[in-house]
Amino acid sequence: MCGIVGYIGQRDAVPLLLDGLSRLEYRGYDSAGIAVFDNGKLSIRKCVGRLTALEDQLQNDPVSGRPGIGHTRWATHGEPSQINSHPHTSDGGHIAVVHNGIIENYHELREALTADGFTFQSDTDTEVIPHLIARELKKGATSIEEAMRLALNQARGAYAIGVTVDTEPEAIYAARLGSPLIIGVGKNENFIASDVPAIINQVSQVIYLNDGEIAKLTQEGISITNLKGESVKPEIKEITIKAEAAEKAGFETFMLKEIHEQPRVLRGLLAKHVIDDKSVSMNDLGLSPDLFHILNRMIIVSCGTAYHAGMYGKLLLEHLTSIAVETDLASEFRYRDPKFGRDTLIIAVSQSGETADTLASIRMAKERGCKVLSICNVPGSSIARESDGVFFTEAGPEIGVASTKAYTAQLMAFALIGIFAARLREEMTQGEAEDLLQSLSAIPDAIHYVVDRKDEIKTIANKHHDGPSSLYLGRKFNFPTALEGALKNKEISYQHAEGYAAGEMKHGPIALINEYLPVICICTKTEDEVYEKMISNMKEVEARHGRIIAIATDGDEGVAGVAEDIIRVPEMRDEFSPLVNVVALQLLAYYAAQARGTDIDKPRNLAKSVTVE
Ligand code: F6R
Repeated sequence: MCGIVGYIGQRDAVPLLLDGLSRLEYRGYDSAGIAVFDNGKLSIRKCVGRLTALEDQLQNDPVSGRPGIGHTRWATHGEPSQINSHPHTSDGGHIAVVHNGIIENYHELREALTADGFTFQSDTDTEVIPHLIARELKKGATSIEEAMRLALNQARGAYAIGVTVDTEPEAIYAARLGSPLIIGVGKNENFIASDVPAIINQVSQVIYLNDGEIAKLTQEGISITNLKGESVKPEIKEITIKAEAAEKAGFETFMLKEIHEQPRVLRGLLAKHVIDDKSVSMNDLGLSPDLFHILNRMIIVSCGTAYHAGMYGKLLLEHLTSIAVETDLASEFRYRDPKFGRDTLIIAVSQSGETADTLASIRMAKERGCKVLSICNVPGSSIARESDGVFFTEAGPEIGVASTKAYTAQLMAFALIGIFAARLREEMTQGEAEDLLQSLSAIPDAIHYVVDRKDEIKTIANKHHDGPSSLYLGRKFNFPTALEGALKNKEISYQHAEGYAAGEMKHGPIALINEYLPVICICTKTEDEVYEKMISNMKEVEARHGRIIAIATDGDEGVAGVAEDIIRVPEMRDEFSPLVNVVALQLLAYYAAQARGTDIDKPRNLAKSVTVE
């Protein structure tokens, strides 16, 4: 949520800020702004709308200079408007601040600052920050860092901030607590950014700022202190992702590119973790394998799409091992009174590694002495850093707001962890493990098969996209697939969609069915009775004239008489069919969204990384 970029160096900051913001727009895109030191003062340009609106404003009212800070916003406090856009200023425009996060005690701070004579222009929580800094400077703070430290010690909540002050144009400042911020280390120039892709084509080294740290960046160097004023030694890391990974590479959208990347991502995970087609290695997990011996219980916590991955993880881990597994929404888990002890492993699933509720759940588990394993896509993220062990999904930057490749990589992570744990606990024979691994190795090609049929899926999407609603049904391993298919559809096409366990249909949602309702039924062949049960559920829909779109196994004629349209997928073991079936649903949602003319990579009201609760 919200993207921050800052630059200090010899180059004009404006194009660098705009380029960085364009790469961060997935984090928020309802308004944008920059503050640049220009002719001895800070010049601000900001406006409501996408970054293109800011670019238009800059065409008409240009500015150039250095240093500078920039922001792309996902509104929390105060509607998207020019006045609420960042940067926010104080002291007659001498101090400018961009912020990602929420200052929870902003109301009381605002009242106190108003009583002290500070005037507020906006409805945002952010505006208290420049005023707090200004107040500390007026009270006698001897440096910007000291003023920031004193100011931030009064703020409660989460923040990543960038600060520029026109009395000190040879530096920019940054601080973080609970919201991500990195420093890009260049040659005679330095950057701040919310995420690596923003500066990936400018620098090859970064410093991940830790919670409670304040950084001062000059052209020549970086110094970091903590909220107590003690100096901290920066740890410089090489950027491991390639610049091309954050480009569209000829695809019309990032989402379509990321859907196409899935076979490669999954092949990469298999190549890394599967040894000679016989066993699974978890060497770099960071957790002792012994843990899997002594475990009685696992609780998987996550949000949104990652929650659906967690639901699949529960089904699969229970199926492959004797460990009791629960799954919960992180936003619920952290506020309920879950009973668990040290024999429980908490598994946190998160693409971004910054989701506030998931992070809070991890902290709660650690306070109770539990070990935490995260399944995470972003090295250096808060969740990766705070977990005891990390399974990196290595899907590369996921920039489309709707998660695709990270999801299938999360499912693959659960499959590999499940086989690993079951073998270690001697709950699976070598032969069974080899069979499962062989089936897993066929998944990337099976996804290719589906992606290659995208034109057929597009035709089906074009036929069904225009109704007000759609229903997604699945059972067992594909119940989470149904939820995920519905989520993809609603978030990018804005068509209301509901995912349901097909067996639950008679308990309510069957009332929705009429001759207009598209009902997407995931009915791939299974080795148990679930397939036949699913066919019965489809017959019930057919009897009420619902318009069935079936996801069915190639060559299976069982669905032919029932479904109006069929999306074919290759034959797979049921356990792993969700990795392929979901790709058909991603494409179905994609083309429905395209037909409905939405902004697929940046759907309304959403942001990629949900760093506020
Ligand atoms: C939907 C989507 C979201 C995220 C959720 C959790 O396509 O992407 O539902 O899955 O916000 O995000 P992470 O995985 O970053 O914790």
